[in-house]
Amino acid sequence: MKEWDSFDKITKGKGVWLIDSKGNKLLDAVGSMWCNVWGHSNPELIKTITNQSKKLQHSSMFNLTNEPAEELAKRLVKISPGMHKVFYSDNGSSAMEISIKIALQYWKNIGEKKKTEIATIENGYHGDTFGAMSVGFVPEFFGKFKKQLFSTIQFPVPNKYRLPKNYSLNDYQNQCLEKIEKRFSKNNNIAAFVMESGAQMAGGVIIFPKSFQKKIRQLCKKYDILFVLDEIATGFGRLGSMIQYEEQKSTPDIVAFGKMLTGGYLTMAATLTNKKVYDSFSGEFNEWKHLFHGHTFTGNPIAAAVANENLKMYQKNNLINKIQKTSKIFTNFYKEISEMDIVGDIRHKGMLMGIELISDKLKKTPINPKKSINKIFFEEGKNQGIYLRTLGNIVMLVPPLVISEKELNLLLNKTIKTIKNATPQII
Ligand SMILES: Cc1ncc(COP(=O)(O)O)c(C=O)c1O
Repeated sequence: MKEWDSFDKITKGKGVWLIDSKGNKLLDAVGSMWCNVWGHSNPELIKTITNQSKKLQHSSMFNLTNEPAEELAKRLVKISPGMHKVFYSDNGSSAMEISIKIALQYWKNIGEKKKTEIATIENGYHGDTFGAMSVGFVPEFFGKFKKQLFSTIQFPVPNKYRLPKNYSLNDYQNQCLEKIEKRFSKNNNIAAFVMESGAQMAGGVIIFPKSFQKKIRQLCKKYDILFVLDEIATGFGRLGSMIQYEEQKSTPDIVAFGKMLTGGYLTMAATLTNKKVYDSFSGEFNEWKHLFHGHTFTGNPIAAAVANENLKMYQKNNLINKIQKTSKIFTNFYKEISEMDIVGDIRHKGMLMGIELISDKLKKTPINPKKSINKIFFEEGKNQGIYLRTLGNIVMLVPPLVISEKELNLLLNKTIKTIKNATPQII
């Protein structure tokens, strides 16, 4: 905290730019924490927020409903194959807590008492609340609370850049899957397998090999384990497809969305389940089968209205096609970035790039400077006119999804300059 005694105040946003109180412009390479879709101050989204806030600002979803929330639920179910109902919350961590509670209670509801364990992948990230921390253990973030977290069964992740010696990616992926199957077949006490969909984000931008997620899904089916996906950061276009599990051919039983759901303008998340799971919660009053969970701002009508408009705009503007086209710009920079001495690996999919910094290319030693890498990159990025954040030794580029080819070229050129200027301070 001592390094961060003062922050620049952002007073305005326009398109992909953030503007501070002194009038400095920063290109938002973080997508305002990975959620911005249309850039800042989009007129259609502002109009929707203004119009809805004149009608109904908030009304509880306890015993009641509201029009935008109902419309959004229908829309979400329509775009999410296999899903049947929606449970709202107001942030991604809560959406994951809800996913875990639904998964655990599902087995109780159907009278199966043995299934109480949760399986996950090492280094996953699902949010900062206790349940979300438990299922997504990133040691640097959560180590201090280890004792208070509930235990999970964790399996290794095939990381192309850091494979065990003498393994090909395919061999190692198969070994990971074999470990999963071995455990699944040993004891039938696993309630759910929880993982990020398509890639681990905070865990270091680990993009899953092609069939990894699909095969885990198949194993869950074979051993009667609920498959729970977290698409909070990777769905809605971030990895280049609207619904990432469709691309991964791995329809879950439960899925969580957040971040880009409202275009990144208001705070809302959603947990969706298939019919099988939903039906298990439907019972008579004295059966106590319903989910005891709710938040004050569940289904907030302004957030739901802007989410509806956001989703309509994806279709109207053919955003997914645009992302697929624009994101090719990243590939033009692979060579220049990977040739830098400090860069060990680059990982890219859709509108996401992770650049792994190392101190020794051969040994792949992660850099470990005395000063915060994040602070160094933030300051150097600012000098270049970009808002950058690193996670550990990974420089992450997660721009607003709508970023133009010209702006993305600018961002990548400025990122290269930032890495070059930061290097002497790090090694
Ligand atoms: C994959 C994933 N799941 C869950 C969350 C938690 O979302 P929130 O920060 O809205 O609580 C995040 C946040 O970065 C995330 O990346």
